[in-house]
Amino acid sequence: MKPGRTLKTLDRMVSKAGLGSRTEARRWIGSGRVCVNGKVVQTPDHWVDLQRDKVTLDGRLVKSLDRRYILLYKPKGYITSYRDPQGRATVYSLIPEVDQFVGTVGRLDLDTSGLLLLTNDHDLAEAMTNPEHELPKTYLVKAATLLSDEQLRRLASGVELKDGPTRPAQVMRIRDSAKYTFLELTITEGRNRQVRRMIEAIGSKVLKLVRTRIGPLTLEALQIGQWRELTKEEVASLRKLSRAKRRS
Ligand code: URA
Repeated sequence: MKPGRTLKTLDRMVSKAGLGSRTEARRWIGSGRVCVNGKVVQTPDHWVDLQRDKVTLDGRLVKSLDRRYILLYKPKGYITSYRDPQGRATVYSLIPEVDQFVGTVGRLDLDTSGLLLLTNDHDLAEAMTNPEHELPKTYLVKAATLLSDEQLRRLASGVELKDGPTRPAQVMRIRDSAKYTFLELTITEGRNRQVRRMIEAIGSKVLKLVRTRIGPLTLEALQIGQWRELTKEEVASLRKLSRAKRRS
């Protein structure tokens, strides 16, 4: 999928890379020290595409320090680490166009699909994964058995796991087939394999797990394996949510 284009003027891009002020950048550009895709550009207001254009100063690559917020619809079968000693496919192979290093905000198991956020904004990543901030995460679960109302009530009120009781959760039965219950579960923590362990704690197993939402973010309009950049409004809303929690 083609990412949204991020355009900036050349002087802004060079100064934002942390190399100098905007005035200095304009001077370097004016004196012919800056190239875009191998050609000298002496116009500071020249537009550059941060994802595609290669900018150099005195022949050295200028790396944009711009913040990136990548929302990926992770398929099953990809791990969320950068490298895997066992050589399995990682989520990074799905975002080859992203040329800055972005870390995953939390994790999804190999067999879980759904919404995964990757960013180089460490503050926001920290705020989003801090359990005190109680950012809701919603999962679609296919359980290996039919679940009773009583089992769903236990999930909602909190179950005992070996690392302590879970917080109250929102649970909604979506439908029952002949053998399986499909439910939506919203939790405000992000412990290791938490959903799978919660379903095991009520005597069943997860057959399929998809994360469909994190706070205001959804998978809407994305196909599995595709990604997009967050909008400014989405980033602002994530920041606001974590600030609101810090104050409360
Ligand atoms: N809970 C799990 O059990 N697995 C995930 O991947 C995410 C949440």
